[in-house]
Amino acid sequence: MAISAVYRVDRSYSWNYEHAPTLPRVRRLPPGPGARLVGYDLNSPLGVAAGPLLNSRWIEGYARLGYDVLTYATVRSRPHGALGLPNIRHVDNHEQGAVIAKRPGLNGNTTIAVSLGQPSMDPEVWRKDVRRAKERIGRGQMLVVSVMGTPSLTDGIDAFIADYALCATWACEAGADAIEVHLATPNPFAEPGLMVYENIPLAAQILYRVRTSVSVPVLAKLGIFRTPRALHETATKLAPWVHGFVLVHAIPRRVVDDEGNAAFEGREWVEVVGSATFPVASRQVEELLAWRKAGAWPHAILAVGGISTEERAQHLLREGADATLVATAALFDPLFAARCRRALGASAVA
Ligand SMILES: Cc1cc2nc3c(=O)[nH]c(=O)nc-3n(C[C@H](O)[C@H](O)[C@H](O)COP(=O)(O)O)c2cc1C
Repeated sequence: MAISAVYRVDRSYSWNYEHAPTLPRVRRLPPGPGARLVGYDLNSPLGVAAGPLLNSRWIEGYARLGYDVLTYATVRSRPHGALGLPNIRHVDNHEQGAVIAKRPGLNGNTTIAVSLGQPSMDPEVWRKDVRRAKERIGRGQMLVVSVMGTPSLTDGIDAFIADYALCATWACEAGADAIEVHLATPNPFAEPGLMVYENIPLAAQILYRVRTSVSVPVLAKLGIFRTPRALHETATKLAPWVHGFVLVHAIPRRVVDDEGNAAFEGREWVEVVGSATFPVASRQVEELLAWRKAGAWPHAILAVGGISTEERAQHLLREGADATLVATAALFDPLFAARCRRALGASAVA
């Protein structure tokens, strides 16, 4: 499936929010191999990363397709509109930057650039809707809610940290089984290009406040690191406040059209996700798995980034990842989880 039949890239975020997809049906969902994640028994270690599941209707649909870790797209403490179109474009990933693809990649080869602006509904809306999402998922499935703080011009860094904790508290009250703290987002108090997770004291304070505000497991979403050492240092310093790490969020890149013009007007850097990011993302996941094996800490590691084939998911699970989450594949290949379940079942028998 080349063009996403589920998320209409030619329509606005609000349109997609209102129009939950008609998903393909699976006649007989292969049984999951079972998994245990941050204290929950799951049907499988397969899930959807933050983003594609815009609300409870999207969650309901994907829960039926055999995704068992369902992440509610990032929410904020106040309404935040999405950026204008384009929000999602197919790209080819080149060394110097990403270039708009002439033809969308097929069969596990989809790579996209995403620029949505981290929208969120009013808390009045999402708090009710998270509750509904929780009611709509089944046994052996868990609802993770991704949260982020919203900076304000007048309030400082403490308010930003407190805002993360407020969102986490609301999400927990609404029934989240775990909170994912979105740290792979620009640090509003640093120079452009630096992310919250790259400032370890800030990330640690946010996680500390969240952890001491909620009663459910806390996961930290991290992005790409410049060096393995930076990854190791960050994970070690953040470990006391979390139950798990979710990585790799995305690869920020310049995205241009074939004439070299910015492909997303007014936005130079855009997040590239999907198939082509797998070599870089999986290497980072494997580095973290190696640190855990060496006894650094016992936390869960949820692999994200370019998982687009059953082989890739199986590989990371075999290496020790506690779960594999997909975003691009969820949108462009919704039957991915069903195929993975079949593959995982077959390898368990073999
Ligand atoms: C349409 C779309 C929306 C996304 N929105 C969010 C979001 O709200 N919060 C977040 O933490 N990540 C968001 N992401 C990033 C994904 O959670 C994930 O980290 C990334 O897409 C890499 O996984 P993939 O290669 O399977 O797509 C989004 C991704 C996509 C494709």
